[in-house]
Amino acid sequence: MTRTASRNELVRKPADAAQAASVNMTSLTGVQDAARHCRACPLWENATQTVFGEGPDDARLIFVGEQPGDAEDIAGLPFVGPAGRIFNRALAEAGIERKEVYVTNAVKHFKFEQRGKRRLHKRPDAGEIEICRWWLSRELEIIEPSLVVALGATAARSLSGKPMPIERSRGELLPFGSNGGRMLVTVHPSYLLRLREENDRAREFGRFVDDLRIAAAA
Ligand code: URA
Repeated sequence: MTRTASRNELVRKPADAAQAASVNMTSLTGVQDAARHCRACPLWENATQTVFGEGPDDARLIFVGEQPGDAEDIAGLPFVGPAGRIFNRALAEAGIERKEVYVTNAVKHFKFEQRGKRRLHKRPDAGEIEICRWWLSRELEIIEPSLVVALGATAARSLSGKPMPIERSRGELLPFGSNGGRMLVTVHPSYLLRLREENDRAREFGRFVDDLRIAAAA
């Protein structure tokens, strides 16, 4: 049965959304369909839509960002805004084809503060990250990648289940999960956008590409 839950159906836990949607939770499209109806934390209320991951279900490499931004919230796709453009450039330099990898976020709804006409990004809190881990876990279970790349602290926290300082383990191939998978932690592409000095930006972009090359080689 593939009935989809109505927008008003009560879903307090991510698993309730899955049940209400009565979809096949062993396929990515099924999980994505269920995630559209998630009301497990308050972020759905102001967001335009759930932004689920994108990419092949047999991808060997998964990239996990923080949460959709303004452009992603509107498009319904991850990493299509300014951070996505710099991410795409770094992937290309590292020799990674974006269409061959799976790209997703730790949190699937855009969290923001309205300032006039602008929607300013707000970091998801520990509770929101924890609740949304349920969806990320389903994506990981189905895809079973060889390597998961955490883009920034929110993704690293979601994947490891605890706060994880980026610089301490950056660029290392760490054990992940129980099936011999590995995880690599690097910075979030938005960090590069925030650097004011041209020299800093070039250096940090190079370091980011180096991390992606480690991921590609692994
Ligand atoms: N930042 C993220 O972490 N994810 C996106 O999809 C876009 C910006």
